[in-house]
Amino acid sequence: MNTAKSLDELIEKRAEAREGGGADKIAKLHEKGRHTARERIEALLDEGSFEEFDMFKTHRCVNFGMEKTKILGDGVVVGSGTINGRLVYVYAQDFTVLGGSLSETMAEKICKVMDMAVKCGAPVIGLNDSGGARIQEGIEALAGYTNIFYRNVACSGVIPQLSGIFGPCAGGAVYSPALTDFTVMVKNNSYMFLTGPKVVKSVTHEDVDVEGLGGASIHATKSGVAHLAADNGAQAIAHLRELLSYMPQNNMTKPPVVENDDPFDRADDRLDGIIPDNPNQAYDIKDVIQMVVDEGHFFEIQPQYAANIVIGFARFGGQSVGIVANQPAVLAGVLDNDASIKSARFVRFCDCFNIPLVTFVDVPGFMPGTVQEYGGIIRNGAKLLFAYAEASVPKITVTTRKSYGGAHCVMSSKQLDGDLNYAWPTAEIAVMGGKGAVEILNARDVKGKSPEEAKAILAEKEKEYTETFANPYVAAGRGYVDDVILPRETRLRVIRGLRMLQDKHRTTHPKKHGNIPL
Ligand code: HXC
Repeated sequence: MNTAKSLDELIEKRAEAREGGGADKIAKLHEKGRHTARERIEALLDEGSFEEFDMFKTHRCVNFGMEKTKILGDGVVVGSGTINGRLVYVYAQDFTVLGGSLSETMAEKICKVMDMAVKCGAPVIGLNDSGGARIQEGIEALAGYTNIFYRNVACSGVIPQLSGIFGPCAGGAVYSPALTDFTVMVKNNSYMFLTGPKVVKSVTHEDVDVEGLGGASIHATKSGVAHLAADNGAQAIAHLRELLSYMPQNNMTKPPVVENDDPFDRADDRLDGIIPDNPNQAYDIKDVIQMVVDEGHFFEIQPQYAANIVIGFARFGGQSVGIVANQPAVLAGVLDNDASIKSARFVRFCDCFNIPLVTFVDVPGFMPGTVQEYGGIIRNGAKLLFAYAEASVPKITVTTRKSYGGAHCVMSSKQLDGDLNYAWPTAEIAVMGGKGAVEILNARDVKGKSPEEAKAILAEKEKEYTETFANPYVAAGRGYVDDVILPRETRLRVIRGLRMLQDKHRTTHPKKHGNIPL
C-alpha cells in the first residue's frame, strides 16, 4: 500500500462526499434561498464541533439503473456535535442527492444516529428536506421510514427530539417530525402534507397550492403541527438552538441553569395595577409573564395557534420552566378543544424532561356549544387534566383573576397535586361566574316578574354572590390556595418555590402506563 496515495484517495473521497449531488444542484438550491445539508449543520452546531459518520455509505438499489448513480453519503449527512458546548446528534437530508429522497441506506444512517443519541443520552435533531420515499427502491424505503418512526417512539420521553423542516416533507414522512417533541418550519420554503395538491384535487376537488395546503403559516395557525414558523432558514436554526437551551440532555438529568443578573427579589409595581377593575375587561397575560421572568425573556411556542392559551419557556433565577397561561386577551382565555390539546402536550413534554411548570390562571371556563361538544371537548379537556395530574415535576400555580368551574380543577389546581398554589387578591375562585349562578339559583324568584323587575333582582343577587364567592379567600380558607400574594411579589415567590421544590420526589404505584384520553 502506498501511504501517500491512500491519503490522497481519502482526501479526494471526502471532497467528493462533501459535494453531495454536485455544484449545479447546490447552485440551484442557493438560487431558491435554500441551503445544503452541510451548511445547515454548520449553522446549527458550535463552530468546528461536527463529527461526521457514514460519509462513504452508498445505496444498494439496482432498479432503474440506480447502480450507476451512487453518491457517497446517499442523501443524508449524519453525526454529532455540540450546541453551546452540549452534545447533540444530528441528521440533515441533502436535497441535492435525488431530492433528499429516503432510501433504505439513508434510513440506516438516521437510525444509527438515533441509536447513538439514546446510548449517550443526548438530544437528536433532524433537519428535513426530502421528496419522500425513494421511488426507485419501493418498499425498502417504506421499511426504512418505519424503522425511524419506531425509534422516534422509543426515544420519546428519553431524549429530546427536535425537527426542522427546511423543504418538502410529504407523505408518511411527516410522521417522524410529528412524533418528535418540537417542529420548526421555514415560511415560504417548507411544506408538510400527507397528500399533495394533485391528489387532493382528484379526491376532494379542492384547488389548493402547496403553501395553502401545508406551508409553515398553515401549520403554525390552523393545524398546530408546527410549533414555530421561522422567517428563513437562519431563524429556524436559531429557534432550534434556543429550544434546546431550556432542555436537559435526557430524562435522567435536569435542564442547565443559566445564570443572569436579574435579581431574584425584583418586584414590579406595575403588576399591582394590571388587572382591570371591570372583570370583563381583557389584559395581556404575556405582559404579566414578561414582568416576572428572568430579563423579561419569554420564548413562546405556538404563538399563533389556539392563542387563548399561551405556552412557552422562560427562566426564573436561571432555572428553566415551562409556562402555561390562559390568555384573557383572546376569547377571554376560555379553554376550548385546540387550547386543551396544545397545552396538554406541552405539560407532557415538560414532565418528561424535568422542567418545572408555572401556570398562570385566568379562565372563565370551558367553551360551551355544539362546535366544542361535537369536537370532543370532553375528551380533549380530559387530556389537559390527565397531563397535569400525572405531571410529577414541580408545579406552581398563580391565579391572577378568574378560575371557574371545571376549568379551575384542570388548571393545575391543588387537588391535581399542585405543589404551590398562589392567588392574587384579584382572584375569583368559584364554581361558576356570578351571572350564570344567579340565573340558575334565583330562577324561581323572578318567575312572573316583569323584565325590569327580574333584571333588578338578579343584579342584586349577583352582587351578593360575587361578594361572597368571587375572591381568593374562600379557597385560601380551605387550603386549596396556599397563600394570597401581592402581584408584585410574584417573581420572588415563584423563585423561592422552585428552590424549595428542586428535590421534589413523588412516588407512584407501579403501572405500565396510564391511558391518557388521546
Ligand atoms: C426519487 C426523487 C424523489 C423521490 C425527487 N426526486 N423526489 N427521486 N424519489 N421521491 C428527484 C427528482 O427526480 C430530481 O432528480 C431531484 O430529486 C429534484 O427533484 P425536482 O422534482 O427537480 O425538484 P422540485 O421541482 O424542487 O420538486 C421537489 C418535489 C418533487 C416537490 C419534492 O420532486 C416531487 O413531487 N417529488 C416526489 C414526491 C413524492 O411523491 N414522493 C413519494 C411520496 S410517497 P434529478 O435527477 O432530475 O435532479 C412517500 C411514502 C412515504 O413518501 C411513506 C412513509 C411511511
